[in-house]
Amino acid sequence: MKNIVLFGFMGTGKTLIAKIMEERKGLRRVDMDDIIEQREGKTISRIFSEDGESYFRNCEQKIAVELGKKSDLIISTGGGVVLNKSNIINLSKNGVCVCLNATPETVYNRVKHETHRPLLQNGDPMTTIREMLANRKIFYDAVPFQVVTDNKTPDIICDEIEKIYSENQ
Ligand code: S3P
Repeated sequence: MKNIVLFGFMGTGKTLIAKIMEERKGLRRVDMDDIIEQREGKTISRIFSEDGESYFRNCEQKIAVELGKKSDLIISTGGGVVLNKSNIINLSKNGVCVCLNATPETVYNRVKHETHRPLLQNGDPMTTIREMLANRKIFYDAVPFQVVTDNKTPDIICDEIEKIYSENQ
């Protein structure tokens, strides 16, 4: 079976949705940020501050190549994985790629009490979210399948993803 690959901005619910899909479909769940933290032996925040963002993006690229060769996985990506076009191409090789969408307000409400995302730690988070979402729109739009998550329960979102997955094996 193909992988299901979840893309989307920070706070669009990739991790939660991946956990539910893992239970529903019996696929093994992997999270690209977790793999990077395990391999590097430090948190994403420390990788950004000690090694820099481009080092982190290289880690993402290597993992996208590896995961593109696997099957039966539910993969949650980091919010910036779309920025490198080759990642979508590699993860599409054996995966149904779905982007989760949410408005800046929804994202803000989901992330406002969290501190683990280096890109949202400086300045006014709502402004940062609006600007980043606008700048990245073109990249998220390049993911083959799109699901809107605002005002939907996780179960409804998973139903939509399951339908896309079953129609695109
Ligand atoms: C990032 C999103 C984060 C993480 C890193 C960079 C981004 O993942 O990969 O902080 O550039 O949008 P989540 O989307 O899981 O928060």
